[in-house]
Formats: sequence, structure tokens, C-alpha cells
Amino acid sequence: MKSVETFSELRKARNELAEPVGFVPTMGYLHEGHLSLVRQAGQECASVVVSIFVNPTQFAPEEDLESYPRDIDRDTSLLEEEGADLVWIPEDEEIYPEDYQSWVLVEEVTKPLEGAERPTHFKGVTTVVAKLFNAVQPQKAYFGQKDAQQAVVIKQMVRDLNYPLDIVVCPIVREPDGLAMSSRNKYLNKEERKAALSLSEGLFQAKKAFQQGVRDADQLRGIVANRVNEEPLAELQYVSCANPETLKEQAGEIEKGLLSMAVFVGETRLIDNVLLK
Ligand code: PAJ
Repeated sequence: MKSVETFSELRKARNELAEPVGFVPTMGYLHEGHLSLVRQAGQECASVVVSIFVNPTQFAPEEDLESYPRDIDRDTSLLEEEGADLVWIPEDEEIYPEDYQSWVLVEEVTKPLEGAERPTHFKGVTTVVAKLFNAVQPQKAYFGQKDAQQAVVIKQMVRDLNYPLDIVVCPIVREPDGLAMSSRNKYLNKEERKAALSLSEGLFQAKKAFQQGVRDADQLRGIVANRVNEEPLAELQYVSCANPETLKEQAGEIEKGLLSMAVFVGETRLIDNVLLK
């Protein structure tokens, strides 16, 4: 596996790879969720490129940019084991040189959910992903359903800006007890880790109710909220039952839905979702 830092190194190494190229953008501190994307890319593509870049522009000033967990040596050896061909680890100045002033904005689908709580977040995500796509020029790019809105936003950007690539969305990888894997789970102490189970448990309870015939959006959101509200350490930020493609909030009887949520467990903000269909 080759490891590069600058755009020019990346471009040179990229041109030596067998096509089609699959690309997995990450912020590092890799876990099984990330590695499942690398694995799927490996099955579908002749070469796999992974980027590791903790993108400062998608963090608001009060968020966890400084403390975001990092372990490049461990990440690199995990990727080596998975058979990735190229890892790109750019410096901040490489992506955002002094005097940087261009942004990619996706409109409607960035407004609700995460966009409502983190108003500057998706501007940073779409801009960095556009820059990474431009540099890597993959035929396929792999994203996790864990960040369901991010996947919808990136698909919209790819359609709108005519990127010649396919977006592949891979299932959420969970811990054995149901907690969705996340680099931020590292922040949880023992009590918080237990309280964090209320996210997946609430979602699974609602999914079961849906499968048993409960179709009312309010009732489904209520099941999720009730489970979280049982935990003194957990504070629900939002629970949504949205149309999975448009992300518009639904009311009344639904046929399908993206049931998603954000919860503060102590200081740590966690997100999770399930698809109802
Ligand atoms: P990061 O949080 O590192 O996630 C990288 C990719 O891994 C994303 O597509 C995310 O959805 C996926 N992922 C994370 N946890 C997962 C899990 N438990 N199961 C399946 N997939 C999972 O998302 C980002 O980085 C950034 O916003 C990025 C796209 C790299 C732009 O900076």
C-alpha cells in the first residue's frame, strides 16, 4: 500500500492504479464501519483509495475538531491489512491553503436534521468531498448509511454537478449490542456507553412496531423518544421520520421512512438511524 500527502503525489500514484478505482473518504480513527466500506470497494473495484483527513470546515467552532481522535499509524496498518492500494493523508494547508475561498453548497436536502442542528456542517462536507473527488477521480465512491443525510447530500451533489461516478451506500455496522460504530464512541465512559444503547434500542423498537403494522409517523417518533428519555444521561436533540429520498418530515400514515436521531450522551453527540420500508 502506498501512502501519499500532497495533491501532486496523489495524482501520480492515482494514475498508476488499475481501473476502476473505488474511493473511501474518511476522517480516520478507523473502525469496522469504515473497513466495511474498504472491503466492499475491494470487491467491486480493481483498486481502492482511502483518504484520511479530519476536515476542519465541517466542524463548528464549539465542536470537537481539536479532540477528534487520531491514530494514523493504527489506521495505516488496518488499511494495509484490508488490501487498500493507496492512502492519502493530506495536511490541512494542502486542502485549504491560505487565501482559500471556494465552496460547494447543496441547498434543500442540507436544511433539515443534521443541517438544522449544525448549520455550517454540510458546506464543509460537500466542499471537501468535491475536492477529494476531483483529485482522486474514482469510478465509485463508498459512504455509510450511518450518516444517512450525508449520503443523500453527496448523491445530490454528484447529480447536480455531473460527477462521473457512482455513489455506493453501505449498511451500518454495529457493536454486538446494537450501538452503531463511531469514532466518537471513544469519548463515552462506562455509564455513558450504557446510556448510548438507548439510540439503537429505540430505533429497533420502532422498527419492530412498524413491521407489526404501526404506520403513524408521530407514534413511531414517540417510541424512539420514549426509550431515550428513560436514560438520565441521554438527551434527545431530535428524532425524525422523514422521506428517505427528500428528507422531508412526514406526518400521519407512512409507507416508508428514514427514522433518524441525534442524542447527547453526556458531552458526546451521537447519531443513528434505521430505514422503515
Ligand atoms: P467519517 O465519520 O470518518 O466516516 C467515513 C465514512 O464511514 C462515512 O461514509 C460514514 O458514513 C462511514 N461510517 C462511519 N461509521 C459507520 C458505521 N458504523 N457503519 C457503516 N459506515 C460507517 O463521514 C465522514 O467521515 C466525513 O464527513 C467525510 C465524508 C470523510 C468528509 O469529511
